[in-house]
Amino acid sequence: MKIKMRTVADIPNLHNVPILVRAPLNEPIENGEVANDFRLRRTIPTIEFLASKGAKVIMCGHIGRDPSETLQPVYRALAKRLPHVSFSGESIGERARAAARALYPGDILVLENLRRHKGEVENNPAFAKELAQLADVFVQDAFDTAHRLHASIVGVPDILPSYAGLLLAEEVRQLFVARTPARPSLAIIGGAKFSTKEPVLKELFSLYEKVFVGGALANDFLLAKGYTVGTSLVSGADDNAVRAFLVNNSLLLPVDAYMARKDAPREDARVGDVTNVADDEAILDAGPQTQKQLAQLSQCAKTILWNGPLGHYESGFTEGTKALALAIAQSGAHSIVGGGDTITAIEELGIAEHFSFISTGGGAMLAFLTHGTLPGIEAILQSQAQVG
Ligand code: 3PG
Ligand code: MG
Repeated sequence: MKIKMRTVADIPNLHNVPILVRAPLNEPIENGEVANDFRLRRTIPTIEFLASKGAKVIMCGHIGRDPSETLQPVYRALAKRLPHVSFSGESIGERARAAARALYPGDILVLENLRRHKGEVENNPAFAKELAQLADVFVQDAFDTAHRLHASIVGVPDILPSYAGLLLAEEVRQLFVARTPARPSLAIIGGAKFSTKEPVLKELFSLYEKVFVGGALANDFLLAKGYTVGTSLVSGADDNAVRAFLVNNSLLLPVDAYMARKDAPREDARVGDVTNVADDEAILDAGPQTQKQLAQLSQCAKTILWNGPLGHYESGFTEGTKALALAIAQSGAHSIVGGGDTITAIEELGIAEHFSFISTGGGAMLAFLTHGTLPGIEAILQSQAQVG
């Protein structure tokens, strides 16, 4: 079902109004600086819209999984792109309230990592209340985290009148299209961990005509088919659960791969058939035949959905992922893609503008594709239903 949320454009009064924006600030950090500000760039239209109307913009979000991590590098990256940005070392309490009170219309305040407080991840009502106290209105723009039951996702919308940011609204529109694909349709799922991908695979088999399973995820499938996968990364998934997918006519798997012994350098990898992996070898990337097949499928498709790398990206096995990115970019298909390594590949190739939509969500994108909604979206809808 189509989701209809009121967005920032529907907020009746903005001038001089403190607005709390839950933003996608979880960016990769290298040497204390943001390595890629993709998510930040995507939320900027929401922030600029609010600031241009004279709102006092209070941005909050999280960074990483370690609660001691700081959002300061993300604040610095934002300050390079927008004027009048300041940082508060506290996200709740008197100091945070004072920083919010000190804002002038059009100013932007970035609050420190919400996950410094257990109350955020535990969705503690007292923490949600503290956060909500900073503003009169709440805006959700963190699509990437909207699958989490955290205070800034589901707690605050219970307290404040809530609206969707422009990014969240666009993600929902585009991923709705991904759930109603024009045919011929092709879904490609890579990455690892069968258990986390099982629900989305089930859904995709019902929505898409062809589903290609690649990356380490494919190893589980090859194993279930009875092939030797050597020392390849497998997720120890329940064999029966994987086997249940094998009967599906729409399932496509890699036919060949780059494989190598443990810790061997990239150049020592050999190309071989997936039916021919030695006991001491690991599958590390999609092979040339598989790349070619995917390119042909992409040429014929009207809709392509892609999430997750085809190879062991962090150890340099990027060829399969990049070949697929190029093939999709060159196809005439409506293309919707997402996931960290997928985005890295696309950005490294400089071909982002050839994709119809690049989602800022990894896990959130998969969860939305599975359920057609997310807890953070439902929370906004409920808040809006209360107001009427
Ligand atoms: C992500 O990068 O997956 C989102 O920002 C959510 O972060 P999390 O997986 O740590 O909850
Ligand atoms: Mg995640």
